[in-house]
Amino acid sequence: MKKYIVIGNPIEHSLSPKLHNYWFEQNNIDANYDKKKIDKSEIQDIVSEIKKNKLDGLNVTVPFKNDVIPFLDILSEESKITQSVNTIYMHDKKLIGHNTDIVGFELSLRETQFDLKNKSIFILGAGGVVPSIICALEKLGVSKIIISNRTKQKAENLKKIFSKIYVVDWGDQPEFDVIINATSLGLNREDNINLNFDNIDKEKLFYDVIYNPKETNFLRTGKSLGCKVSNGKMMFIYQAFEAFKLWHKVQPEINEDLKNFLDS
Ligand code: ATR
Repeated sequence: MKKYIVIGNPIEHSLSPKLHNYWFEQNNIDANYDKKKIDKSEIQDIVSEIKKNKLDGLNVTVPFKNDVIPFLDILSEESKITQSVNTIYMHDKKLIGHNTDIVGFELSLRETQFDLKNKSIFILGAGGVVPSIICALEKLGVSKIIISNRTKQKAENLKKIFSKIYVVDWGDQPEFDVIINATSLGLNREDNINLNFDNIDKEKLFYDVIYNPKETNFLRTGKSLGCKVSNGKMMFIYQAFEAFKLWHKVQPEINEDLKNFLDS
């Protein structure tokens, strides 16, 4: 039986085992997927288990997507640009690090059917997932990306990789067509983002990377303004879909049953 694990800290909330084990069953794949909370000092040992054939693949989540990089042999182009790895596997005796968050985010945005061409995007946050979001947005042909983060220096640091982005102070509110919450504000139901959306029109998209809770106060605000809203559930599903394809060379099915199953 093949073995897969998602590592992170915290990890209790992760739905990856539920999703991958569901797809294993559907596709008659003899494998098991588990989650493991680790400390940074354990990364090397866990990654080396793949080389020893004790593990067949790893997903990596917050906060280790960058920390795993020194222990890998080859990085995909996407991982190199973002310095972020969420999927690891062996190929020709080499450990490969890949980033499926980029395509996960891109596919989830396409599904909203919001036309992104030449649009201004306002991103709240500058944490681990933001380089992947910027990378996908640049591919989708947006015209402007503006970042605001409580710790401004972290947003400024992103300019070293993505020279075309703009940075504004936390609390400032530029004009935008799409606003993306990539902070952890909203994980607690009572969390609020202190921006004033009173005067914005309804032709906007509010996207929250958070998918649990399903509707953050941020998305509730967008909805009440009549804007299009999307949470991060499809991004989560699509990043797993891409990892599954890399590992098993099989395209798993995404349908309403699956989405309902994840909610159950
Ligand atoms: P990390 O910052 O370690 O990569 P993350 O979960 O990927 O962790 O990112 C958390 C994001 O939420 C960061 O942008 C963080 O802002 P800081 O860089 O200033 O820490 C943001 N965040 C978390 N709590 C916040 C709060 N109470 N107010 C505003 N932003 C917050």
